[in-house]
Amino acid sequence: MLVTGAGGQLGRALAEEFADDGAVAVTRALWDVTLPPPPQLEPGDLVLHAAAWTDVDGAEDDPQGAAAVNVGGTANVAALGAPVVYYSTDYVFDGRKREPYLESDGPNPQSAYGRSKLHGEAAAGDQAWIVRASWLFGPTGHNFVRTMLRLAADRDEVSVVDDQRGSPTYVGHLAAATRQVLELPYGVYHAAAGGDASWADFAEAIFEEAGLDTRVRRVSTAELDPPRKAPRPAYSVLRSEKGAPELPHWRDGLRECLAAIRAAGENE
Ligand SMILES: NC(=O)c1ccc[n+]([C@@H]2O[C@H](COP(=O)([O-])OP(=O)(O)OC[C@H]3O[C@@H](n4cnc5c(N)ncnc54)[C@H](OP(=O)(O)O)[C@@H]3O)[C@@H](O)[C@H]2O)c1
Repeated sequence: MLVTGAGGQLGRALAEEFADDGAVAVTRALWDVTLPPPPQLEPGDLVLHAAAWTDVDGAEDDPQGAAAVNVGGTANVAALGAPVVYYSTDYVFDGRKREPYLESDGPNPQSAYGRSKLHGEAAAGDQAWIVRASWLFGPTGHNFVRTMLRLAADRDEVSVVDDQRGSPTYVGHLAAATRQVLELPYGVYHAAAGGDASWADFAEAIFEEAGLDTRVRRVSTAELDPPRKAPRPAYSVLRSEKGAPELPHWRDGLRECLAAIRAAGENE
């Protein structure tokens, strides 16, 4: 099997989870998915497609660039002919609900990124599991946990939005849950961590679990200065009504992530 986006946070976790199954980790250097695949690339029986344009604000400035990767790139992956797992996002929803989004809820993306990911779902073709996750974090790459730890190094207080709610999901848990998704028929599935939190709740938990006394100042999205370019859903908790695996609680994921970061630091 192939893992695309293997240099990204989820791609790395997938390559690790499926290493004993012979997963071939394909980074952007090996295949830029906006181009046809290199001739030597064998798709095998399955493609775990984690390559994506994930710069949510950058997509507002360059929606075509985002679509080239998230839609065009996904079509190139589907054209390999093997079944695909396509990782999608809670940002396909508008966030107006106040109870968890289920697979039967209609998408209504509010950002260029969300639209490109939704069109990418269709581009994955008929032999595809569409796995919608939310608020991913892991020990590597760009994510909220690593940003908070970096900010805490030289600040006593950080301002964090308190009016967006979701389920922060650990990439290791999503990679493990992918095995169970593969037992289900092709289709759309929601697979996010148990529990939910605002970004401010999550930041407080990060500082608490990491033993830091950095304070969190709770602010609203409207107070952010400068404002973010892309609108985010105010509420985007995902749950499954189709038997997708239940992932561990986000706080367990956070503890595992911090332990992995500590272990990597000790091995440096
Ligand atoms: N992050 C989240 O909060 C979140 C939430 C829900 C769903 N998802 C979805 O989950 C998946 C994995 O996200 P992630 O957080 O692991 O993202 P990530 O860390 O940004 O990884 C994405 C990877 O895709 C690569 N990539 C970008 N453009 C490419 C191209 N044209 N060809 C080949 N590779 C390319 C990136 O390489 P470079 O680093 O070189 O650009 C990066 O290694 C994505 O489909 C994302 O939409 C993410």
